[in-house]
Amino acid sequence: MEQFINKVICDDCLVAMKDIPDKSIDMVLTSPPYDNLRDYKGYTFNFEGIAKELFRIVKDGGVVVWVVGDATIKGSETGTSFKQALYFKDIGFNLHDTMIWTKLGGGAVGSNLCYTQNFEYMFVFSKGKPKSINLIRDLENGSFGKGSGVYHGRRKKDGTIKIETRKAPLEFSKRNNHWYIPPQKGEHPAVFPEKLAEDHILSWSNEGDIILDPMAGSGTTLKMAKKNNRNYIGIEISTEYIDIINKRLTQDTNPKE
Ligand SMILES: C[S@@+](CC[C@H](N)C(=O)[O-])C[C@H]1O[C@@H](n2cnc3c(N)ncnc32)[C@H](O)[C@@H]1O
Repeated sequence: MEQFINKVICDDCLVAMKDIPDKSIDMVLTSPPYDNLRDYKGYTFNFEGIAKELFRIVKDGGVVVWVVGDATIKGSETGTSFKQALYFKDIGFNLHDTMIWTKLGGGAVGSNLCYTQNFEYMFVFSKGKPKSINLIRDLENGSFGKGSGVYHGRRKKDGTIKIETRKAPLEFSKRNNHWYIPPQKGEHPAVFPEKLAEDHILSWSNEGDIILDPMAGSGTTLKMAKKNNRNYIGIEISTEYIDIINKRLTQDTNPKE
C-alpha cells in the first residue's frame, strides 16, 4: 500500500485498483466521464466494475463522493446519474446524501426547450455509517444574539413551574446540501472547482486519511487533499492529464500549518 501513497498512477483505474488492498481507503472523491458529454480521447469506462472495486477498497465507514450529471440524448435526459446511484446501493453502499452542486453564474448545457441546465449531483455514498463527519457550519443564523438562552417552561401537573434552559442560538448553522459554487476553468475540459473538492474533503475525512480519485482528470481532488494534510492516491488514464496533475501538485499546495 505504501507505494501508492501520495502518488499518481497512469492507468485504467479498474486495472490499477486491483493492487489496492481491501478496506484501505478512507474517502473517494471523483467525477466520472458521463454519457460521453465531453471528449475524453475515447477511453472506455466500465462503471459497474469500478463501483464494485470501490466497495472492496473503501474502509468500513468510508465515503465515496460521486459528482455526476446527465446528457440529453435524442430529446431525453439519460438518467445515468440515477441508475449509477441505485447501482451503488445495490452493491452495498448507503446513499448517505444526495447533494446538488449549482454552477453559480454558469451552466448552459442542454436543450433550448428546457430551463438552463446548471447543476450536477454530488452523491455521497457510505460503507455503513460514515466514520468521519465534520459538517461545515457557515450558514448565518438570523436569530444569533437575540435569545437569552433561558426561558420559563411549562407549568407542571402539580402547579409548579419548571424553569428550563435552552442553548442560545449559535452564530452559524450547518449548511444545506445544495452548494452554490462558480465553475472553474482549467486545462482539463471537466475540472470541478477546488472549493467543491476542499469542502467535501473537510466534511467527510480527517487529517492523515487516504483520499483516492480514480479518475483524477487534472488532479483537483489530489491538490485539495494535499493542501488539507490528507494523503492522496490519484489514478488517471490519460498521460496528457498526468502532466497537468503533476504541475498542479507542485504549485501552491503547501499543506496548511
Ligand atoms: C470528469 S473528468 C475528472 C475531472 C477532475 N474531477 C478534475 O477536477 O480535473 C474524468 C476523467 O476520467 C478519466 N478516465 C476516463 N476513464 C478512465 C479510466 N477507466 N481510468 C482512469 N481514468 C479514466 C478521463 O481521462 C478524465 O480525465
